[in-house]
Amino acid sequence: MRKNIVAGNWKMNTTVPEGVALAKEVSEALKATKANCDVVICVPFTHLVPVAGAIDAAVLGLGAENCADHKSGAYTGEVSAPMVASTGAKYVILGHSERRQYYGETSETLREKVALALENGLTPIFCIGEVLEERENGTFNEVVAKQVEEGLFNLSAEDFGKIVLAYEPVWAIGTGKTATAEQAQDMHAHIRAVIAGKYGQEVANNTSILYGGSCKASNAPELFAKPDVDGGLIGGASLKCADFMGIVNAF
Ligand code: PGA
Repeated sequence: MRKNIVAGNWKMNTTVPEGVALAKEVSEALKATKANCDVVICVPFTHLVPVAGAIDAAVLGLGAENCADHKSGAYTGEVSAPMVASTGAKYVILGHSERRQYYGETSETLREKVALALENGLTPIFCIGEVLEERENGTFNEVVAKQVEEGLFNLSAEDFGKIVLAYEPVWAIGTGKTATAEQAQDMHAHIRAVIAGKYGQEVANNTSILYGGSCKASNAPELFAKPDVDGGLIGGASLKCADFMGIVNAF
């Protein structure tokens, strides 16, 4: 059966000492209260090694926020999937809307990144989601289905089974505007149906689909109560231990 997961996405926030302190605080909080879900923090590349050394991997998973679309070589400034894996990280966020929007990531580059992540034993947290215009003009279901199909449907069923999906409506990210629990449920059920159409119902049922976009302790219980919402990808509210733990404890 699929897992419930709460994953933090720190984005480009915190210095290394600040990040290590926050990670330690979250790890300690999780040791004190047993979570009813898997908990992960995805941190900047510079933080991976010191954070790996500061947390208890038995209670808190670690991930990167991106990786390169090449294995190694003359790609100045890039960080590869083998490098990420060598830090002890187990997850990598791929295709976040900020990467798609500001850094021109396409389904084609994302397929390379997903393949390299899987080859190196990393679990991709693959992000999808429509922009406001697509929500308003009613094309959101097709847009999101296309992102899933183009980014992931080249995978074998076995490899697809290793993917975590995160539905993040772009209009809800960092805006304080959360999708309603009904909107999230409808989309998650739609995504699961799209997966079932390609890989069958069993694979679809085993896929964790997280919700992201202004998720906080106050709205997490309602969102996570929906049958197809298997947790959250948390931006702003993952930067304070108490806020993040409030969401973890929604399970
Ligand atoms: P937010 O970001 O929680 O700050 O809206 C979520 C995300 O972009 O992953």
